[in-house]
This record gives sequence, structure tokens and C-alpha cells, in this order.
Amino acid sequence: MAASKKIIAEIEHLRNEINQHNYLYHSQDDPIISDAEFDRLFRDLKSLEKQYPELISNVSPTQRVGSTPLSSFSQVVHELPMLSLDNAVGKDGVFEFDRRIKTRLQSDGDIRYACEPKIDGVAVSLLYENGQLTRGATRGDGTTGEDITQNVRTIESIPLQLMGQGYPRRLEVRGEVYFAKSAFRKMNELAHSRGEKVFANPRNAAAGTLRQLDSKLTAQRKLAMFCYSVGLAEGELPDRHSEILARLGTWGLRVNPLVDVVIGAGRLVEYFNSIGEQRESLDYEIDGVVFKVDDIGLQQELGMLTRTPRWAVAHKFPAEEGITRLNDVEFQVGRTGAITPVARLEPVKVGGVTISNATLHNMDEIARLGLVVGDTVVVQRAGDVIPKIVSVMLEKRPRKTRKVKLPAACPACGSEILRSEGEVVVRCTGGLSCSAQVKESIRHFASRLALDIEGLGDKLVEQLVDEGLIENAADLYQLTEENLVKLERMAPKSANNLLEALEKSKETTLPRLIYALGIQEVGESTARNLAMRFGDLDALQNADEELLQTVADVGPIVAHKIHHFFQQKNNLAVIDSLVEIGLQWKVEETTVGEQRLNGETWVLTGSLSKLTRNDAKARLQRLGAKVSGSVSKNTSCVVAGEAAGSKLTKAQELGIKIIAEDDLIVLLEEYGA
Ligand code: IVH
Repeated sequence: MAASKKIIAEIEHLRNEINQHNYLYHSQDDPIISDAEFDRLFRDLKSLEKQYPELISNVSPTQRVGSTPLSSFSQVVHELPMLSLDNAVGKDGVFEFDRRIKTRLQSDGDIRYACEPKIDGVAVSLLYENGQLTRGATRGDGTTGEDITQNVRTIESIPLQLMGQGYPRRLEVRGEVYFAKSAFRKMNELAHSRGEKVFANPRNAAAGTLRQLDSKLTAQRKLAMFCYSVGLAEGELPDRHSEILARLGTWGLRVNPLVDVVIGAGRLVEYFNSIGEQRESLDYEIDGVVFKVDDIGLQQELGMLTRTPRWAVAHKFPAEEGITRLNDVEFQVGRTGAITPVARLEPVKVGGVTISNATLHNMDEIARLGLVVGDTVVVQRAGDVIPKIVSVMLEKRPRKTRKVKLPAACPACGSEILRSEGEVVVRCTGGLSCSAQVKESIRHFASRLALDIEGLGDKLVEQLVDEGLIENAADLYQLTEENLVKLERMAPKSANNLLEALEKSKETTLPRLIYALGIQEVGESTARNLAMRFGDLDALQNADEELLQTVADVGPIVAHKIHHFFQQKNNLAVIDSLVEIGLQWKVEETTVGEQRLNGETWVLTGSLSKLTRNDAKARLQRLGAKVSGSVSKNTSCVVAGEAAGSKLTKAQELGIKIIAEDDLIVLLEEYGA
């Protein structure tokens, strides 16, 4: 059947809608519809395209899934070479760069600079012809790169069709493709659990993924892109770099929100420092900042050297690698009984922080590194990741070394240790009778997202267990002022506060309780799903593995762990005691009727790491709040996630209440949403 005008218009309409929502979600981090609504639009478009395959177009948002694998990449010659950057070393280097520019321009006045984070990913060039993405290429040697069109087409923050108007007929945009830290961690965890190869860092993962011959694989891994410049342009563009970037944004291309414009060299250093402070909290790796003369006319006047422009410079963060000696390897027991080797290092400064410990993950990692005590090792601190040993300098190995041996028994309780089939992790079999596990499990029980017992910090748990006052979480509720004040540094007032907090914690919710039990693999969100599915603890306790797997997030391994947990006598005994002392919980859903946020307008900005945006939005809405995409004087509260940008600034200017993601979680929990 030939498509009617109406169908053609409907398809066009759906594509525009989907593109717009894709842009809001991936480029602006500001979705205005739920995932379910988005999926519905997508399904509608797919079904129309299936009925009218002649209408499928290369720029349709349905065409991002990857295509037939290539046997090799063809070459792309860049019409304008892709340059690299000179480095300004130290503060002096920055002033020197500014001075060179002024001398060359014979100018005394302060220069206007665009400042940008230097994204640690892979440089990519995108060609848009009449607004359509026609080619994606790697930088290669700067002159010739590889054609990775199939792969870039799968990246959701790269528009297949530019939005708006006024874009040059041919426009080549350049930028950095990267792997978000959170997505990288997730991917590696999954790969690790499946015994597959893990990537060393997000940059390698991005490079490897972009160079996949099978673009279906690229589509499965979530890459993203920030655009930072324009190469070739046949058409009009603004005469300032910062304005060009802003213009790219209006065409649907993603530009980093931390880009700023400053005047004078002193402000460059300030920018560098401020980005350095934010570095850890960003969900992408950066290795420094880039300063660019903002005025395009001046850029042209300054010109370039062979491979680098005179008008731009990179200013990098100090190296985040150090060399030191492995003094010993000790074994720690975690809450779930996992026994992890930890490297004790000769203290060394890396990226401004002194490192004396590093994780070694497991015995396989030690074998992979070929590590022995006494070795000289290279340690790395990557963003917010715990320091790790990346390699051994074999040439520096001393004569006297010692092999790392797994202890015969648990270092905390002396119980037997076991490595179960298919697992790399070694565990203590002592369960709640192992002091290390008891301490950790009580800490977890009292933590903010669990029973939130205020005043019960790590030290106090340690003291209580060591003094023999408690052996499990339920024992907490047997504490009295009399035995508390006997503890070191415990005044009657603090003791009473703690007892009050304990009393308060007896009124909780089912998801909190399930989370608090500390079942392996059951995090906050799985606990919520379990609570919603089973409605009470008894039903959950009695569920078999098959039934458990009907819950979102719960696969066979998690189902087994949950089932196993409720088979253990000591765990059941703790739960019984909790019921006995009067712990009460409500299933959240039933309490939402109160609509505690009725009439309020909330704004979510920046990226959230523990909640999904849709979840946060839905839960706020359940409480009666309106969730808006923009900040105004009518906004009641702004939730600022990582890398929150202009909305956060606006909220600060308007004096609107701002809270962090963790506060939001606490509030949602408290109000039972
Ligand atoms: S500008 C002439 N801006 O750093 C301008 N580069 O050695 C050339 N990079 O290969 C690049 N973030 O891949 C520019 N905001 C940014 C950047 C950036 C990362 C990379 C780029 C380039 C390398 C410079």
C-alpha cells in the first residue's frame, strides 16, 4: 500500500518528536517525558516504518542500532588537518602562552579566551551535509583517519539530522567521543562477572568501541560526545569561538556545559583550578583544560605551526601515576565475607594526594600483574577510582622478595575460606559469626539509606562489637544508657540521643528493611523492587528462586543469593529478634496518598548517579510535585546532580533551595515515594 500524505506527515512528526526528546535526554540532560512515553513514540515509528519500508530514511532515529559488520575501515582524508595542542606546563606556562599571543598580536590589552575541559577520550570528526550526518572519522595521524560512520551513528548524543536552521551547507564538527565513568564501571563489572576481558580505563574502552568493525557492538555500549570545534564550514558562522559552540548547541550538537569565557591570563589559572576541583565529581574523565583565543579573526592572525595552532593550548593536570614499593599485601574481610587483598605501599604522592594503599581486587589480579612483595610498582589514581597498581617494574625487582599467599583461614575470625565455583572472589564462611562481617553488616544496617540510625558511626559500631555489647543488628535495640555510658567518650547525652535514634528507626519502610539486611547483590533499588513485588517480608522470605526472578533486576545469581540468605538460621534469628523488639515497616506505595509535595515545582538538573531521572521524576510526581525543566522564581527546589550547569547557577542567583541527589533519596524515602 502506498503511503498517504497523512502517513508521511505522521512519520515526519514522530521523527521530529523522538529527535527532540533524544536531544533533551542525551545532550541537555533534561528529559521532559518518561522512558515509557519515549518507548511508545519509538514503537509507533518503528511499526509505521515496517508497514512502509520505502519511507525508512538514513536519518531516522530507528537507524541507530548498527549495521552489517565491516571487514575493514576505509580511509578518510581530512580536508582541513585535525590539529593537536601544545602544552602549557605549570602556571608559568600559562602566563607565557598569554604573553606570546600578546607579543604576536602587538597588543597590550587583555585577551578574551574560551576555556574548556580537556576531555580524555578519542577525537572524532563529523560531517554534516545539508544538516544530515554523512560521515564520521577518527583523527588518525591528523591528515588521514578512518571512516567510522557506522559506529558514530549509534551514539545517541550525536544527531543524525541537525535541528533548527541556519547551519552551513557543509559543516564538519569536531569533538571528543568518550565513555562515561558510570557506564564504564557498569560495563567492566558485567564483563568481570562474566569472566570477560575488562578495559583498563574509559579512554581505552572508548577507542576500542569506536574501532569495532561490528557497529551492533558499538550500539550496545553507551558512548557519548562533546563537540569542541568546527573544521570545514561552507556557510556563515559567528566570529567568536564561544558563540560557535553555542550555535552548535542550538543545532542539537552536544557541547560541554563547563565551557566559559574569561578575560586575561589570571582568570585562565582560576578556571583551571575550578575545573580541577570539579574533576572528581564529573561523570567523564578529563586530563586538563584547553584555552583558546575566542576571537576567530585573531585566531587567523595568529595562525599555526606544523601540527598545533598558536591560538590554543592545553594545560594538563599533574600526572596521576606514581612509582613506589610494595611493602606488603594484607587481606581484608568485607561485609559479605569477600576476602580482598590490599597493597600496602611506601607512601607516594600521586596527583597531589598521598597514596599508601591500593586495591588488588583478588588473587587473579595479583597473578595477572605477576606481583611479589618488594616489587617496585606503578600506581595510578584515575578520577574517583580507588588507587590501583597498574604494572610491575620487573627491571627493579630486588633479590629478596616474597610471594603473596592467600591466608589459610579468615584473617578476622579464623573460619575456613572458600572459593566457589565460577567466582574469582574468595569468601569467609563464618557468616554473621565473623566479627568483620558483623561489624560491616551492622554499619550497613544503620546507614542512611538503610535504617538511618543517626549517631551510630563506624567507630561506635567497632567499640560496641569489640566490647561485646552487640553481636548483630538486632542487639542494638537491647542497648541501655547504663551500658552505653561505660564506653569511652560516651556522655549520657550522646547515649540518650543514640537511644532515641534507635527508637525512631523502629518505624521504617519495607524497602529500607530489605536493603538493611545486607543481602549480597541487593542494593537500594533491588530492595525497592522486591518490596513492591512481595508486599511483605514473609512473602519474600518464602519465595523460591524462580519466583524471585520475576522481579526487575533479579537474575538467577541474585535470586540464588536472596534465597540462600533466607535459608540461614542466624539471619532468620536476627529478623525474628527485630520483629520482637517492635520494628515496624510499611510498604511504601500505600503511604504516598499524602502527597507531601503538593503544589510544589521541582527541577532536576545535572546527572544523577543513583536514581534514574525518570525514577526520580515519577517518585516526585507521586508525591504531588510538578517536575519542570526550567528554573524560575516559582521553583520550590532544585536537585543538583553531577556537573549541574546553568540551571544550578540560576537557582543560586534566585536563592532557591538546592539539594543533592542523596538528600533527594532521603526525602523520597522519608515520604514513602
Ligand atoms: S581543541 C586546534 N578542545 O585533545 C584545536 N581538543 O592534543 C585542537 N581534546 O586531539 C583540539 N578536549 O582530541 C580541543 N575541549 C577540547 C578538547 C580537545 C579534548 C583533545 C583532542 C585533541 C587533543 C589535543
